[in-house]
Amino acid sequence: MQKLKKLYEGKAKIVYETEEPDKVILEFKDVATAFDGVKKEDIKGKGSLNNEISSILFTILENHGIKTHFIKKLSDREMLVWKAKRFPLELVVRNYAAGSFVKRYGVKEGTEINPPLTEFFMKNDELHDPMVCEEHIRFLELAPVELLPKMKKIGLKVNEILKNIFEKANILLVDFKLEFGLLPDGSLAVVDEISPDSMRLWDKQTREKLDKDRFRFDLGDLLEGYKKILLNLKEVI
Ligand code: TMP
Ligand code: ASP
Repeated sequence: MQKLKKLYEGKAKIVYETEEPDKVILEFKDVATAFDGVKKEDIKGKGSLNNEISSILFTILENHGIKTHFIKKLSDREMLVWKAKRFPLELVVRNYAAGSFVKRYGVKEGTEINPPLTEFFMKNDELHDPMVCEEHIRFLELAPVELLPKMKKIGLKVNEILKNIFEKANILLVDFKLEFGLLPDGSLAVVDEISPDSMRLWDKQTREKLDKDRFRFDLGDLLEGYKKILLNLKEVI
């Protein structure tokens, strides 16, 4: 499958047209960004790790009956996906308090959230991804509101599947973000990536942070954390 015109360039990925109008190529960049792009660094090898981890996780989800845009991994840093009409919305699922949840509600980091909870955010860097509820989503036309319960249900099912896999890999799934879109056949699907850029993953015993928080808060080598996640995952799939 050949890369044709560049359709869109984001902070971490580039989207290319292919000869098939329904399919696009995602190219994962060797760049890490945080705080809505304010902090940015080239990290050689990150694109490949995120592509591989995302491909593994999408495959697992597909095998469990979750619709995603994933078709196949094409190369080190490229993935073939269905072209989707993407909603500017992020669904976050949380199992333990961390990140913006800790800041917003003053809960101690690491407190278990059981049952897990879901939150919606508007995908907009300039506005710093504000949290939104159903009424905001309706007014701002971020997504058809009748799809929101479906998105939450998918998010919670994805959580159960991934929590299980990571548990076996000796990793705690703290939280993660999903994006949704409509595939060419009109079905609702998980799109974008599912990688340590979009999840918080802690070592189960030591609670060492293995995800992008390493880069956000200068906690240690980013690649070392991502490599550990991949290695542990590969042992259990
Ligand atoms: P938060 O605690 O900053 O709200 O993030 C929750 C989860 O969502 C965390 O795993 C990181 C992920 N996330 C993204 O993937 N993209 C984003 O733009 C933000 C803000 C969070
Ligand atoms: N995804 C956002 C960025 O890359 C925010 C973050 O992950 O901290 O800037």
